[in-house]
Amino acid sequence: MSQRKILVTGALPYANGDIHLGHIMEAIQTDIWVRLQKMRGHQCIYVCADDAHGTAIMLSAESQGITPEELIERVNREHRRDYDGFLIGFDNFYTTHSEENRELSESIYLALERNGHIARRNIRQLFDPEKNLFLADRYITGACPRCKAEGQYGDNCEVCGSTHSPSELINPKSALSGATPVEKESEHFFFTVSAFTEMLRNWIRGGAVHEAVANKLDEWLEEGLQDWDISRDAPYFGFEIPGHPGKYFYVWLDAPIGYMASFLDYCKREGLDFDAWWRPGRDHELYHFIGKDIVNFHTLFWPAMLESAGYRTPDAVFVHGFLTVDGTKMSKSRGTFINAETYLKHLNPEYLRYYLAAKLGPGVDDLDLNLEDFAQRVNSDLVGKLVNIASRCAGFIGKNFDGMLAGAVDNEALLEEIRKASAEIADLFEQREYGKAVRRIMALADKANQYLNERKPWEIAKSDRKSPELQQICTTGINAFRLLAGYLKPVLPAMAADAEEFLAIDPLAWNDFDSLLLDHRINRFKPLMTRIEPAAVQAMIEESRQSWNSGQDDTEAAPAPEAIEEIAAEIDIGTFAKIDLRVARVIEASLVEGADKLLRLRLDLGVNAAGEPVERTVFAGIRTAYKPEQLTDKLLVVVANLKPRKMKFGISEGMILAAGPGGKEIWLLHPDTGAKPGMRIS
Ligand code: MSP
Ligand code: ZN
Repeated sequence: MSQRKILVTGALPYANGDIHLGHIMEAIQTDIWVRLQKMRGHQCIYVCADDAHGTAIMLSAESQGITPEELIERVNREHRRDYDGFLIGFDNFYTTHSEENRELSESIYLALERNGHIARRNIRQLFDPEKNLFLADRYITGACPRCKAEGQYGDNCEVCGSTHSPSELINPKSALSGATPVEKESEHFFFTVSAFTEMLRNWIRGGAVHEAVANKLDEWLEEGLQDWDISRDAPYFGFEIPGHPGKYFYVWLDAPIGYMASFLDYCKREGLDFDAWWRPGRDHELYHFIGKDIVNFHTLFWPAMLESAGYRTPDAVFVHGFLTVDGTKMSKSRGTFINAETYLKHLNPEYLRYYLAAKLGPGVDDLDLNLEDFAQRVNSDLVGKLVNIASRCAGFIGKNFDGMLAGAVDNEALLEEIRKASAEIADLFEQREYGKAVRRIMALADKANQYLNERKPWEIAKSDRKSPELQQICTTGINAFRLLAGYLKPVLPAMAADAEEFLAIDPLAWNDFDSLLLDHRINRFKPLMTRIEPAAVQAMIEESRQSWNSGQDDTEAAPAPEAIEEIAAEIDIGTFAKIDLRVARVIEASLVEGADKLLRLRLDLGVNAAGEPVERTVFAGIRTAYKPEQLTDKLLVVVANLKPRKMKFGISEGMILAAGPGGKEIWLLHPDTGAKPGMRIS
C-alpha cells in the first residue's frame, strides 16, 4: 500500500473556557483515527489550536484585570496540559492569535474581495454608549415584550418562550455596563456565500459529509444562503481588516484559517511544503473533525472561502454528536459538567478513551457517558478480559522459563484467527466504526480466555513446572495478548507502550501483526491496568459539583414562627412570572442522616420535550410531620426553577411549598385530583 499524506484537524476550543469532557470526546475520536493512520505507516499530521479571538475573550480578560494576550497565553498552557493528560497526540497545538494566521487571514480576505465576493452595507445595531461597543444579542437584557418578565436576553424569553429582537425588549439595558443602549448604524462587510451554492452542492454530493448532515445541508441550500457578516467594529480582540482601520475580522472568519496557520507553523519547523497540502490538484488528504453545533461554518462558509481563495476544499468533515452524562446534558448542579482537569485527578485517561471508543460510531448521535456502565464496562473488558490474558500466562513464563517464550505455539488456529482480523479491524477504525472495532477485538479476547480456561496452564504447572506444553500454552496466550493490545493501541496508547515494554519489543505497527513472538525473552509482568473504583467516580462528581456551587452552606428549614411574619416587599407580576411552580410526584422520600428535620425527596416532574424524564432532588424540612413512606407517590407543588443550592447534606434542586407553624403541623400543598407531574401552576 502506498503511503498516504493526511492532514487532520480538531475543532479549535475557545480560549476563554476550560477543556471539559465534551471537548475531550472530540479529541479522543480524532486522536484514535490519527494514531491508526500512523500505525499503518501513513504520514498523518494532526493539528489544532486555541480559538483566541472575539468579544467574549476581550471581556473575560477585562474582568480578570489582565490583557487578552495574557489570558490566552495562560489558557493555552492549561489546554495543552489537559489534552496531554488524555494522551492526545497533536503534532502541533497553536493559537489563532499568531502572525501566520494574520497573514493567511488577510490574504484570503483580499482574495475574496478581489473576486467580488465581499459586499459592504450599513446595518443598525444596539450600541452601549458607556462601553462604546456594539452589543451582540446575548449582551442585552430587558423585560419581555410579551409576558413582561424582567431580565430576559436579547433574542428570546426564558419565561414565556417567545422570540423577539433585542430592540423590542422593554427598557433594554446593556448587560455589560447597565447603560441604556442606543441604536447606531455602521458599515459591515459580508461574504456573498450564495455565489457558491452549486459548488457546495457538488462538494456535498461528493461524499464530504455523513448522509444525515448532507440532508440538513440540502435543506439550507434549498432555502437559499444569506450573505455572511464577517466584520466587527472596534473595540474587538482580533485582526484588523486590511485597509479598513477600526474594522475587524469576525472571529469565525479567522478561526478555520487557524487550521492552516497551525499547519504552517508546523511546516516551518519540520520543513514541509505548505502549498503541496493546501493547493488543489495534489493527492494530499484533508479532514476536519467537529461537533454538530458548528456544521454551517465548516460545510458552507469554509469550503466556499477556500474555493474563492484558490485553495483546496476538505475531503470530508466528520461530524459527531454531543457527550451527555447519565442521560442528560452535562449539568453543573448535578456535578456532571466535568472538566478534563477534574477527571484526571481521579481517573486514568485510558478508561475514558476505551469507554468512548466502545460507543463511538460515524454518525451524529449524541453519546452518553453512563457512569455506572462506564466502571463496569472498563473493569470487565480491560481488566477482566484483555489484561487477564497476559496476567494468566506471564508469571509461568517469568518464573518457570526464565522469561523465555517457546519456539512454537500450542494453538496455531487461535492465533491465525486473531491475525486474520487485522485488516477488518483497521477498516472499521478507518470508517470511524470504533464501537464495532472494539466489539470485534473483545470477541477475540473472549476466545483467548476460553482457550486458557480449557487448557488450564495453572493445573499443568502444579504437576510439571517446566513442561514444554505449559511453555507453549503460555506462549500462545502472550501472543494473543500482543495482537489484541496492538489492535487497541490507537485507543490505549499508554497501555500499549507498557505492553511493549513488558514484551520487550519495538513499538508495534500494523504490519507487525503478520508475525508471532517466539524464542524471545520478555520482561517481568507488572499490572497493566487497575480496576475503576466507584469511589473515585463519586469523588470526581463531588468535586465537579463543588467547584460550580460556591460554597453557600445553608440549610435546614427555618424555625416555626409564632405570629405571622410581616409580608415581604412587593414584587411586580414580571418577577412573579419568573417563579416556575409545578406539580410534582414524590418518587421516593428518605431520611437524611444527621439532620433531624430534613427529608430527601426525589420528585418526578413528568417528561420534557425530548421525552426525557425531569427529576429534582429536594431537601425539605418536613421530617417532624411526615414519615418518608407516607409521601411516596403523593403530589405536591414545587418551585421548579430555583437555582440548585449546596446544603450540608447535598444539592437541593428546588423548594416544595408547605404551610404551617412547624412540628407536627406542616401541610403540603398538593393538588388532589387529576393533576399530572410537570403541570404548570398559574
Ligand atoms: N471555537 C469554536 C470552533 C472553531 S473551529 C474553527 C468552538 N469552540 S468550542 O470550544 O465551543 O467547541 C469546540 C468543539 O468541542 C466543537 O467541535 C464542539 O462541537 C465540541 N463540543 C463542545 N461541547 C461538546 C459536548 N458536550 N460534546 C461533544 N462535543 C462538544 O465551537
Ligand atoms: Zn416572555
